[in-house]
Amino acid sequence: MPLFRIVYVSEAAGPAASGLMPLVDIIGVSDRNNRRDQLTGVLMRHEGRFLQVLEGARVDLDRTLARVRSDGRHTNLAVLSDRRVEARIFPDWAMARVEATPDVARLLSADIDQDDRDAALDRLLTDLSLTAAGAV
Ligand SMILES: Cc1cc2nc3c(=O)[nH]c(=O)nc-3n(C[C@H](O)[C@H](O)[C@H](O)COP(=O)(O)O)c2cc1C
Repeated sequence: MPLFRIVYVSEAAGPAASGLMPLVDIIGVSDRNNRRDQLTGVLMRHEGRFLQVLEGARVDLDRTLARVRSDGRHTNLAVLSDRRVEARIFPDWAMARVEATPDVARLLSADIDQDDRDAALDRLLTDLSLTAAGAV
């Protein structure tokens, strides 16, 4: 079954923009659903914005992203990357919350050009791979 990985950013809305409870709620439901759907990934929130990485089969990703897109807890969802990949970065994480890295802040800023964005995204995914592998 071909694997795909999506990375998107969005703007948190209302209570989801700060505080721990909204995040705990999102992670809890995502963990349950993503286990069922064999999706894996991470969610970060930084200064009122989200960055999420989701990986899995096309049909499951599309169904979940459609649900996530219409969630009122965020707006302006923009997909940064959606491509076929050979392997999962997060085989053991149905949905984990991780700390934002400086590259996340860069990716979330509006005035970033395409080359910088691609480089920052590459670095972010490399850092996350190390974190997921337990190296840091
Ligand atoms: C930033 C963000 C990320 C989310 N990520 C996921 C996810 O990875 N998987 C998921 O099932 N729901 C995710 N959700 C929640 C969905 O939008 C939706 O509320 C949920 O899937 C509904 O699940 P239910 O039908 O089981 O209640 C996310 C919501 C937000 C705001």
